[in-house]
Amino acid sequence: MCGIIGFTGAKPAAPMLLEGLRRMEYRGYDSAGIAVQEGTQIRAARASGRLEHLCAMTHDGADYAGTCGIGHTRWATHGAPTECNAHPHLSNDGLFAVVHNGIIENYQPLREELMAKGYTFHSETDTEVVAHLLDMYYDGNLKNAVMKTVARLEGSYSLGVVCAEHPGELVAVRYASPLILGVGVGENYFASDVTALIGHTRTVIYLDDGEFAVLSPEKITIYDCTGAEVKRAPSHIDWTMEAAEKGGYAHFMLKEIMEQPHAVKSAIEPRLKDGRVVLGGLDLSRAQLEDIHSIVITACGSAYHAGCVGRYAIEELCRIPVQVEVASELRYRNPLIDEHTLLIVISQSGETADTIAAMKECKKRGARAIAIVNVVDSTIARLADDVLYTWAGPEIAVATTKGYTTQVAVLTLLAVYMADQLGRISPERYAALVEGITALPERCQRAIDLNSHIDRLARKYHKNSSLFFIGRNLDYAACLEASLKLKEVSYLHSEAYAAGELKHGTIALIEEGRLVVALACYEALFDKMMSNIKEVKARGARVMGVALEGNRRILTEADDAVYVPRTDPLLLPIPEMIPMQLFAYYVAKENGCDIDKPKNLAKSVTVE
Ligand code: F6R
Repeated sequence: MCGIIGFTGAKPAAPMLLEGLRRMEYRGYDSAGIAVQEGTQIRAARASGRLEHLCAMTHDGADYAGTCGIGHTRWATHGAPTECNAHPHLSNDGLFAVVHNGIIENYQPLREELMAKGYTFHSETDTEVVAHLLDMYYDGNLKNAVMKTVARLEGSYSLGVVCAEHPGELVAVRYASPLILGVGVGENYFASDVTALIGHTRTVIYLDDGEFAVLSPEKITIYDCTGAEVKRAPSHIDWTMEAAEKGGYAHFMLKEIMEQPHAVKSAIEPRLKDGRVVLGGLDLSRAQLEDIHSIVITACGSAYHAGCVGRYAIEELCRIPVQVEVASELRYRNPLIDEHTLLIVISQSGETADTIAAMKECKKRGARAIAIVNVVDSTIARLADDVLYTWAGPEIAVATTKGYTTQVAVLTLLAVYMADQLGRISPERYAALVEGITALPERCQRAIDLNSHIDRLARKYHKNSSLFFIGRNLDYAACLEASLKLKEVSYLHSEAYAAGELKHGTIALIEEGRLVVALACYEALFDKMMSNIKEVKARGARVMGVALEGNRRILTEADDAVYVPRTDPLLLPIPEMIPMQLFAYYVAKENGCDIDKPKNLAKSVTVE
């Protein structure tokens, strides 16, 4: 996710800004830039790719003497990771420079309005509207221009602003995106991440949503959205640098698990407008959809598991046959794919070699390819006919967590969208699903609240050397991912089984003390699951039952229960996966594993 930094003081700002950006590199980015006040002007430098390019371009900041400036590392969302799209963005007259984290959802109408007023846009970003709005509203009063600009923005944003006519002054704005002020002696700072600050100060002030601050070397003044001054006591940070990078969490995996309410929100919120699913970038007419005879979903690993979940929603809502196949198999078959096939390719990194090869093979045969990808402008995104980004933010831990849940969220949105285009979903079902999708971030948060309960269960069960995940229907699809998560980070042997299939052979492995995790959230088949739980209990298994909140019946058979927040059955695997990720995490922690970098695994598998 993007990183923001701002500095005002007596020493040159540029080296300090570059150092702050370096400290935030771990967040992931694909371009970087700085803007510094130099006399009555603002000078900016921007570069795509690594921060080293920006450092080389500015001679590590030595080219800039100014003592007040802003910096940014960009993780592309709107527009490719090019120099033009890199921040800071300047107003046409060079009076304002802006850096931004988050998404300005209404940037398109604002852009049209500003263009009609004669403003010229030099980037494809949502951010550039902010620089021009500031310019439009500025009449010598910076605070008023900021307030008027912010009042026009919808979405989530933290902003850093410098104005050429206000030497030594910075403005920092926060709305639903992190921003922290750093208090120094004769110098002050802001940053999206405490990591960028703790080399300089451990005294910080947290802004609340809707607040903004004006910083000079001697003073920080905070205002609410009405312009009234807010008094806020500073806090002291005692994290180590390493802890700060992980936002205070012990591992990136745990941080990314915890980020899921926000990540899912980023994936869905811009795609829900007035109760409708709006998929910008996807233009599939009813006639085109009616011409599709089958859908093939292809991916690897967890992304494949997301596809296994998505199949249920697409088949149920659209009534089109869906086949889900791992890319490494699909690429070497002679698949029945032609121009009547819709291909859905899923990948967090967008660079997985097998997925790319399978995609090319299917496209060669005439299939139209929709990519569900996290990394903007990655190979898969560029190869696709249509791209739906998951907007989960960078994932650092090798084991994917928010990557998976956001993929499932986007697949469900796609299923609802296609069913509606085809006229195969009733208005009531449509409205219920939109309501369920809208509530997902809150459901994810409630699933995260299970954290300490799951930690306790992991302490109880971490010594099992081999275990089973069983479930039916969507619970079975969720088992596939739950089992992979556990084995990859904890190195325990585990298998995912369709609960009804167990007795066709594998039940031979159920013995005294074997842990079986029974996912029984799909209530239409709850009684069947209870029978399967009885079967394994009769053979000595210990059962951790996962059921919906309020379903106490699970405890009549299971030894322990995990209660997942209720949601529409088609959305279940999203909140259901969170306790499973936490279980994998805490078991691995108990067993002393290298959680963020499990042995033998790579984050992006770019070789066959
Ligand atoms: C598991 C995991 C992998 C990836 C797989 C595909 O936690 O991360 O199984 O899901 O390697 O990677 P992407 O999604 O980048 O194509």
